[in-house]
Amino acid sequence: MASYSTYLKLCFTIFFLINYVPASVQLSSTFYSSSCPKALSTIKSAVNSAVSNERRMGASLLRLHFHDCFVNGCDASVLLDDTANFIGEKTAAPNNNSARGFDVVDTIKSKLESICPGVVSCADILAVAARDSVVALGGSSWTVPLGRRDSTTASLTDANTNLPSPFSDLSDLISAFSNKGFTTKEMVALSGSHTIGLAKCALFRTRIYNETNINTKYATSLKKNCPSSGGDDNLSPLDTTSSTVFDSAYYTNLINNKGLLHSDQQLYSGGSGSTDSQVRAYRNNPASFFTDFGNAMIKMGNLSPLTGTSGQIRTNCRIVNSG
Ligand code: HEM
Ligand SMILES: *[C@@H]1O[C@H](CO)[C@@H](O)[C@H](O)[C@H]1NC(C)=O
Ligand SMILES: *[C@@H]1O[C@H](CO)[C@@H](O)[C@H](O)[C@H]1NC(C)=O
Repeated sequence: MASYSTYLKLCFTIFFLINYVPASVQLSSTFYSSSCPKALSTIKSAVNSAVSNERRMGASLLRLHFHDCFVNGCDASVLLDDTANFIGEKTAAPNNNSARGFDVVDTIKSKLESICPGVVSCADILAVAARDSVVALGGSSWTVPLGRRDSTTASLTDANTNLPSPFSDLSDLISAFSNKGFTTKEMVALSGSHTIGLAKCALFRTRIYNETNINTKYATSLKKNCPSSGGDDNLSPLDTTSSTVFDSAYYTNLINNKGLLHSDQQLYSGGSGSTDSQVRAYRNNPASFFTDFGNAMIKMGNLSPLTGTSGQIRTNCRIVNSG
Protein backbone atom coordinates (compact mmCIF):
# COMPACT_ATOMS: atom_id res chain seq x y z
CA MET A 1 0.00 0.00 0.00
CA ALA A 2 1.29 3.43 -0.89
CA SER A 3 2.57 5.48 2.00
CA TYR A 4 1.01 8.77 2.93
CA SER A 5 4.09 10.60 1.68
CA THR A 6 3.86 8.89 -1.73
CA TYR A 7 0.23 9.95 -1.84
CA LEU A 8 1.21 13.52 -1.00
CA LYS A 9 3.87 13.51 -3.72
CA LEU A 10 1.32 12.26 -6.22
CA CYS A 11 -1.14 14.98 -5.24
CA PHE A 12 1.58 17.54 -5.52
CA THR A 13 2.61 16.30 -8.97
CA ILE A 14 -0.98 16.39 -10.23
CA PHE A 15 -1.43 19.86 -8.79
CA PHE A 16 1.78 20.95 -10.50
CA LEU A 17 0.77 19.48 -13.88
CA ILE A 18 -2.71 21.01 -13.80
CA ASN A 19 -1.53 24.42 -12.77
CA TYR A 20 1.70 24.87 -14.60
CA VAL A 21 1.75 22.83 -17.78
CA PRO A 22 -0.97 24.72 -19.73
CA ALA A 23 0.78 28.00 -18.96
CA SER A 24 3.99 26.61 -20.39
CA VAL A 25 2.54 25.89 -23.86
CA GLN A 26 5.26 27.41 -25.98
CA LEU A 27 5.09 29.08 -29.33
CA SER A 28 7.08 27.25 -31.98
CA SER A 29 8.52 28.43 -35.29
CA THR A 30 7.40 25.16 -36.91
CA PHE A 31 3.81 25.42 -35.67
CA TYR A 32 2.31 25.48 -39.20
CA SER A 33 4.82 23.09 -40.85
CA SER A 34 2.28 20.34 -41.36
CA SER A 35 -1.05 22.19 -40.91
CA CYS A 36 -0.27 24.95 -43.41
CA PRO A 37 3.17 24.51 -44.98
CA LYS A 38 2.69 27.51 -47.30
CA ALA A 39 1.64 29.90 -44.52
CA LEU A 40 4.97 31.69 -44.21
CA SER A 41 5.66 31.99 -47.94
CA THR A 42 2.10 33.26 -48.50
CA ILE A 43 2.51 35.99 -45.91
CA LYS A 44 5.94 36.96 -47.21
CA SER A 45 4.85 37.37 -50.80
CA ALA A 46 1.80 39.41 -49.79
CA VAL A 47 3.95 41.68 -47.60
CA ASN A 48 6.53 42.07 -50.36
CA SER A 49 3.88 43.09 -52.85
CA ALA A 50 2.25 45.53 -50.41
CA VAL A 51 5.64 47.09 -49.61
CA SER A 52 6.63 47.36 -53.26
CA ASN A 53 3.32 49.10 -53.85
CA GLU A 54 3.92 51.53 -50.95
CA ARG A 55 7.08 51.35 -48.84
CA ARG A 56 5.43 52.99 -45.85
CA MET A 57 3.18 49.93 -45.53
CA GLY A 58 6.14 48.03 -44.07
CA ALA A 59 6.29 50.58 -41.25
CA SER A 60 2.55 50.43 -40.71
CA LEU A 61 2.56 46.64 -40.42
CA LEU A 62 5.46 46.68 -37.95
CA ARG A 63 3.60 49.18 -35.79
CA LEU A 64 0.39 47.11 -35.86
CA HIS A 65 2.17 44.17 -34.22
CA PHE A 66 3.51 46.50 -31.49
CA HIS A 67 0.06 47.99 -30.89
CA ASP A 68 -1.38 44.49 -30.72
CA CYS A 69 1.17 43.03 -28.29
CA PHE A 70 1.31 45.93 -25.83
CA VAL A 71 -2.45 45.76 -25.25
CA ASN A 72 -3.28 42.53 -23.41
CA GLY A 73 -0.80 40.49 -25.42
CA CYS A 74 -0.35 39.48 -29.05
CA ASP A 75 -3.92 38.34 -29.70
CA ALA A 76 -4.95 40.40 -32.74
CA SER A 77 -7.26 42.50 -30.54
CA VAL A 78 -6.13 45.59 -32.47
CA LEU A 79 -7.73 44.21 -35.64
CA LEU A 80 -11.31 43.98 -34.32
CA ASP A 81 -13.74 46.48 -35.82
CA ASP A 82 -16.19 48.39 -33.67
CA THR A 83 -19.79 47.21 -33.93
CA ALA A 84 -23.08 48.50 -32.53
CA ASN A 85 -22.46 46.63 -29.26
CA PHE A 86 -18.70 46.26 -29.24
CA ILE A 87 -16.03 48.96 -29.04
CA GLY A 88 -12.57 47.85 -30.03
CA GLU A 89 -9.13 49.46 -29.99
CA LYS A 90 -9.18 51.14 -33.39
CA THR A 91 -10.45 54.46 -32.05
CA ALA A 92 -8.07 54.57 -29.08
CA ALA A 93 -5.91 57.70 -29.19
CA PRO A 94 -2.73 55.99 -30.47
CA ASN A 95 -4.67 54.17 -33.23
CA ASN A 96 -7.44 56.50 -34.39
CA ASN A 97 -6.70 57.71 -37.94
CA SER A 98 -3.18 56.46 -37.41
CA ALA A 99 -2.94 52.67 -37.28
CA ARG A 100 -3.02 51.32 -40.82
CA GLY A 101 -2.39 48.14 -42.77
CA PHE A 102 -5.73 46.49 -41.96
CA ASP A 103 -6.49 45.92 -45.65
CA VAL A 104 -3.16 44.17 -46.17
CA VAL A 105 -3.92 41.89 -43.20
CA ASP A 106 -7.34 41.14 -44.74
CA THR A 107 -5.69 40.23 -48.04
CA ILE A 108 -3.24 37.90 -46.30
CA LYS A 109 -5.99 36.33 -44.20
CA SER A 110 -8.20 35.59 -47.20
CA LYS A 111 -5.29 33.95 -49.06
CA LEU A 112 -4.58 31.79 -46.00
CA GLU A 113 -8.25 30.90 -45.55
CA SER A 114 -8.34 29.67 -49.13
CA ILE A 115 -5.30 27.39 -48.76
CA CYS A 116 -5.81 26.20 -45.15
CA PRO A 117 -9.13 27.34 -43.69
CA GLY A 118 -9.33 27.99 -39.96
CA VAL A 119 -5.64 27.32 -39.30
CA VAL A 120 -3.51 30.47 -39.24
CA SER A 121 -4.34 33.06 -36.58
CA CYS A 122 -4.55 36.77 -37.20
CA ALA A 123 -2.12 37.31 -34.31
CA ASP A 124 0.49 35.16 -36.07
CA ILE A 125 -0.13 37.01 -39.34
CA LEU A 126 0.76 40.26 -37.55
CA ALA A 127 3.94 38.78 -36.05
CA VAL A 128 5.17 37.37 -39.37
CA ALA A 129 4.14 40.45 -41.37
CA ALA A 130 6.13 42.65 -38.96
CA ARG A 131 9.27 40.57 -39.51
CA ASP A 132 8.74 40.37 -43.29
CA SER A 133 8.23 44.13 -43.41
CA VAL A 134 11.52 44.84 -41.68
CA VAL A 135 13.29 42.46 -44.07
CA ALA A 136 11.54 43.98 -47.11
CA LEU A 137 12.85 47.39 -46.06
CA GLY A 138 16.44 46.19 -45.70
CA GLY A 139 16.62 45.06 -42.06
CA SER A 140 17.89 41.75 -40.70
CA SER A 141 15.60 38.78 -40.23
CA TRP A 142 14.65 36.81 -37.12
CA THR A 143 12.77 33.55 -36.59
CA VAL A 144 9.16 34.12 -35.53
CA PRO A 145 7.71 31.75 -32.92
CA LEU A 146 4.13 30.79 -33.92
CA GLY A 147 0.97 29.30 -32.47
CA ARG A 148 -0.78 32.39 -31.13
CA ARG A 149 -4.58 32.38 -31.20
CA ASP A 150 -7.01 35.29 -31.56
CA SER A 151 -8.93 37.08 -28.85
CA THR A 152 -12.68 37.42 -28.63
CA THR A 153 -12.33 40.80 -26.94
CA ALA A 154 -10.47 44.08 -27.19
CA SER A 155 -9.92 46.98 -24.80
CA LEU A 156 -10.10 50.62 -25.80
CA THR A 157 -9.09 51.64 -22.28
CA ASP A 158 -6.03 49.40 -22.25
CA ALA A 159 -4.99 50.67 -25.69
CA ASN A 160 -5.19 54.21 -24.32
CA THR A 161 -3.18 53.43 -21.21
CA ASN A 162 -0.62 50.79 -22.26
CA LEU A 163 0.77 52.37 -25.42
CA PRO A 164 3.39 55.07 -24.83
CA SER A 165 2.63 58.65 -25.87
CA PRO A 166 4.91 60.72 -28.15
CA PHE A 167 4.88 63.38 -25.42
CA SER A 168 6.46 60.98 -22.92
CA ASP A 169 9.63 61.80 -21.04
CA LEU A 170 12.38 59.19 -20.70
CA SER A 171 11.14 57.97 -17.32
CA ASP A 172 7.65 57.37 -18.78
CA LEU A 173 9.14 55.42 -21.70
CA ILE A 174 11.25 53.30 -19.38
CA SER A 175 8.25 52.47 -17.22
CA ALA A 176 5.87 51.81 -20.15
CA PHE A 177 8.31 49.16 -21.41
CA SER A 178 9.26 47.90 -17.97
CA ASN A 179 5.55 47.30 -17.29
CA LYS A 180 5.70 44.82 -20.20
CA GLY A 181 8.90 43.19 -18.97
CA PHE A 182 11.41 45.05 -21.13
CA THR A 183 14.74 46.45 -20.05
CA THR A 184 15.71 50.00 -20.87
CA LYS A 185 18.19 48.65 -23.41
CA GLU A 186 15.40 46.69 -25.13
CA MET A 187 13.26 49.84 -25.14
CA VAL A 188 16.07 51.71 -26.90
CA ALA A 189 16.41 48.88 -29.46
CA LEU A 190 12.65 48.68 -30.15
CA SER A 191 12.47 52.46 -30.55
CA GLY A 192 14.82 51.99 -33.52
CA SER A 193 11.61 51.07 -35.39
CA HIS A 194 11.29 54.80 -35.93
CA THR A 195 13.96 54.45 -38.61
CA ILE A 196 10.96 53.86 -40.91
CA GLY A 197 7.55 55.43 -41.32
CA LEU A 198 5.82 58.76 -40.87
CA ALA A 199 4.22 60.82 -38.13
CA LYS A 200 1.56 63.53 -38.04
CA CYS A 201 2.28 67.20 -37.49
CA ALA A 202 -0.01 67.36 -34.41
CA LEU A 203 2.29 64.89 -32.67
CA PHE A 204 5.55 66.83 -33.15
CA ARG A 205 4.34 70.45 -33.46
CA THR A 206 5.27 71.41 -29.90
CA ARG A 207 8.67 69.88 -30.41
CA ILE A 208 9.53 71.87 -33.54
CA TYR A 209 8.09 75.18 -32.30
CA ASN A 210 8.89 75.13 -28.60
CA GLU A 211 11.72 72.77 -27.79
CA THR A 212 15.37 73.79 -27.70
CA ASN A 213 17.06 70.40 -28.00
CA ILE A 214 16.35 70.28 -31.73
CA ASN A 215 18.63 71.06 -34.65
CA THR A 216 17.58 74.53 -35.89
CA LYS A 217 17.68 73.78 -39.61
CA TYR A 218 15.78 70.56 -39.06
CA ALA A 219 13.06 72.38 -37.09
CA THR A 220 12.83 75.09 -39.75
CA SER A 221 12.43 72.57 -42.56
CA LEU A 222 9.70 70.70 -40.68
CA LYS A 223 7.70 73.89 -40.11
CA LYS A 224 7.05 74.19 -43.88
CA ASN A 225 4.76 71.20 -43.73
CA CYS A 226 3.62 71.66 -40.13
CA PRO A 227 2.24 75.13 -39.48
CA SER A 228 1.86 76.39 -35.91
CA SER A 229 -1.85 75.84 -36.32
CA GLY A 230 -3.69 73.71 -38.86
CA GLY A 231 -2.29 70.85 -40.92
CA ASP A 232 -2.56 68.45 -38.00
CA ASP A 233 -2.54 65.39 -40.26
CA ASN A 234 0.38 66.47 -42.46
CA LEU A 235 3.05 63.79 -42.42
CA SER A 236 6.81 63.91 -41.96
CA PRO A 237 9.34 61.08 -41.83
CA LEU A 238 10.36 59.79 -38.41
CA ASP A 239 13.87 59.29 -39.85
CA THR A 240 14.76 62.42 -41.79
CA THR A 241 17.52 60.73 -43.80
CA SER A 242 16.11 57.33 -44.85
CA SER A 243 12.53 56.70 -43.73
CA THR A 244 11.93 53.86 -46.17
CA VAL A 245 15.03 51.88 -45.21
CA PHE A 246 15.37 49.85 -42.03
CA ASP A 247 18.85 50.96 -40.94
CA SER A 248 20.39 52.49 -37.81
CA ALA A 249 20.07 56.12 -38.96
CA TYR A 250 17.50 56.74 -36.23
CA TYR A 251 20.29 56.74 -33.66
CA THR A 252 22.51 59.04 -35.73
CA ASN A 253 19.57 61.43 -35.96
CA LEU A 254 19.13 61.47 -32.18
CA ILE A 255 22.80 62.29 -31.68
CA ASN A 256 22.31 65.19 -34.12
CA ASN A 257 19.22 66.45 -32.25
CA LYS A 258 17.06 65.35 -35.16
CA GLY A 259 14.60 63.11 -33.36
CA LEU A 260 11.12 63.91 -34.71
CA LEU A 261 9.00 63.12 -31.66
CA HIS A 262 9.62 64.48 -28.19
CA SER A 263 9.75 60.84 -27.05
CA ASP A 264 12.43 60.02 -29.66
CA GLN A 265 14.79 62.79 -28.59
CA GLN A 266 14.32 61.76 -24.95
CA LEU A 267 16.62 58.81 -25.67
CA TYR A 268 19.58 61.14 -26.27
CA SER A 269 20.39 64.22 -24.21
CA GLY A 270 23.67 65.58 -25.47
CA GLY A 271 25.75 62.90 -23.83
CA SER A 272 24.41 63.22 -20.30
CA GLY A 273 21.28 61.07 -20.45
CA SER A 274 21.08 57.56 -19.02
CA THR A 275 20.35 56.02 -22.45
CA ASP A 276 22.83 58.17 -24.40
CA SER A 277 25.59 55.58 -24.37
CA GLN A 278 23.25 52.91 -25.75
CA VAL A 279 22.15 55.26 -28.55
CA ARG A 280 25.82 55.80 -29.41
CA ALA A 281 26.50 52.06 -29.26
CA TYR A 282 23.75 51.33 -31.80
CA ARG A 283 24.92 54.21 -34.02
CA ASN A 284 28.47 52.85 -33.91
CA ASN A 285 27.53 49.23 -34.36
CA PRO A 286 24.44 48.71 -36.56
CA ALA A 287 24.92 44.92 -36.41
CA SER A 288 24.36 44.99 -32.65
CA PHE A 289 21.18 47.02 -33.19
CA PHE A 290 19.88 44.46 -35.69
CA THR A 291 20.63 41.55 -33.34
CA ASP A 292 19.12 43.22 -30.29
CA PHE A 293 16.13 44.42 -32.30
CA GLY A 294 15.33 40.91 -33.56
CA ASN A 295 15.62 39.45 -30.07
CA ALA A 296 13.45 42.19 -28.59
CA MET A 297 10.84 41.62 -31.32
CA ILE A 298 10.73 37.91 -30.45
CA LYS A 299 10.27 38.88 -26.80
CA MET A 300 7.52 41.34 -27.74
CA GLY A 301 5.83 38.63 -29.79
CA ASN A 302 5.79 36.41 -26.72
CA LEU A 303 3.68 38.83 -24.67
CA SER A 304 0.73 36.83 -23.26
CA PRO A 305 -0.24 34.87 -26.35
CA LEU A 306 -3.43 32.80 -26.32
CA THR A 307 -2.40 29.19 -26.98
CA GLY A 308 -3.81 25.66 -26.90
CA THR A 309 -7.58 25.92 -26.74
CA SER A 310 -7.73 29.53 -25.52
CA GLY A 311 -9.22 32.08 -27.90
CA GLN A 312 -10.01 31.12 -31.48
CA ILE A 313 -8.71 31.26 -35.02
CA ARG A 314 -10.76 34.07 -36.50
CA THR A 315 -12.07 33.55 -40.02
CA ASN A 316 -12.12 37.30 -40.61
CA CYS A 317 -9.52 39.25 -38.62
CA ARG A 318 -11.97 42.13 -38.11
CA ILE A 319 -14.71 40.13 -36.39
CA VAL A 320 -15.04 37.49 -33.70
CA ASN A 321 -16.32 34.15 -35.13
CA SER A 322 -20.05 33.75 -34.62
CA GLY A 323 -21.26 30.64 -32.82
C1 HEM B 1 9.04 54.18 -27.48
C2 HEM B 1 7.77 54.54 -27.46
C3 HEM B 1 7.01 54.83 -28.72
C4 HEM B 1 6.25 55.92 -28.96
C5 HEM B 1 5.97 57.06 -27.99
C6 HEM B 1 5.76 55.81 -30.31
C7 HEM B 1 4.93 56.72 -30.91
C8 HEM B 1 4.68 56.77 -32.27
C9 HEM B 1 3.97 57.81 -32.93
C10 HEM B 1 3.31 59.01 -32.26
C11 HEM B 1 3.97 57.53 -34.27
C12 HEM B 1 3.33 58.37 -35.38
C13 HEM B 1 1.86 58.01 -35.49
C14 HEM B 1 1.10 58.96 -36.39
O1 HEM B 1 1.51 60.10 -36.58
O2 HEM B 1 0.04 58.55 -36.93
C15 HEM B 1 4.69 56.30 -34.43
C16 HEM B 1 4.91 55.70 -35.63
C17 HEM B 1 5.53 54.49 -35.76
N1 HEM B 1 5.93 53.66 -34.74
FE1 HEM B 1 6.11 54.16 -32.82
N2 HEM B 1 6.22 54.66 -30.86
C18 HEM B 1 6.98 54.02 -29.93
C19 HEM B 1 7.58 52.77 -30.08
C20 HEM B 1 7.47 51.99 -31.20
C21 HEM B 1 7.81 50.60 -31.27
C22 HEM B 1 8.30 49.75 -30.09
C23 HEM B 1 7.57 50.21 -32.54
C24 HEM B 1 7.73 48.84 -33.17
C25 HEM B 1 8.28 47.81 -32.59
C26 HEM B 1 7.11 51.37 -33.27
C27 HEM B 1 6.87 51.41 -34.61
C28 HEM B 1 6.44 52.53 -35.29
C29 HEM B 1 6.43 52.64 -36.73
C30 HEM B 1 7.01 51.63 -37.70
C31 HEM B 1 5.85 53.86 -37.03
C32 HEM B 1 5.53 54.44 -38.43
C33 HEM B 1 4.15 53.91 -38.82
C34 HEM B 1 3.66 54.37 -40.17
O3 HEM B 1 4.33 55.11 -40.89
O4 HEM B 1 2.52 53.96 -40.52
N3 HEM B 1 7.03 52.42 -32.42
N4 HEM B 1 5.09 55.85 -33.20
C1 LIG C 1 -11.54 59.28 -34.26
O1 LIG C 1 -11.37 60.07 -35.39
C2 LIG C 1 -12.59 60.49 -35.99
C3 LIG C 1 -12.28 61.14 -37.33
O2 LIG C 1 -11.32 62.14 -37.20
C4 LIG C 1 -13.30 61.41 -35.03
O3 LIG C 1 -14.51 61.87 -35.58
C5 LIG C 1 -13.57 60.64 -33.75
O4 LIG C 1 -14.12 61.52 -32.79
C6 LIG C 1 -12.29 60.04 -33.19
N1 LIG C 1 -12.64 59.13 -32.13
C7 LIG C 1 -12.11 59.22 -30.92
C8 LIG C 1 -12.59 58.23 -29.93
O5 LIG C 1 -11.30 60.07 -30.62
C1 LIG D 1 4.68 77.16 -27.39
O1 LIG D 1 4.71 77.72 -26.09
C2 LIG D 1 3.90 78.88 -25.96
C3 LIG D 1 4.16 79.46 -24.57
O2 LIG D 1 4.00 78.47 -23.61
C4 LIG D 1 2.45 78.52 -26.19
O3 LIG D 1 1.63 79.65 -26.09
C5 LIG D 1 2.32 77.93 -27.59
O4 LIG D 1 0.99 77.46 -27.79
C6 LIG D 1 3.28 76.77 -27.78
N1 LIG D 1 3.25 76.37 -29.18
C7 LIG D 1 3.13 75.12 -29.57
C8 LIG D 1 3.08 74.87 -31.03
O5 LIG D 1 3.09 74.20 -28.77
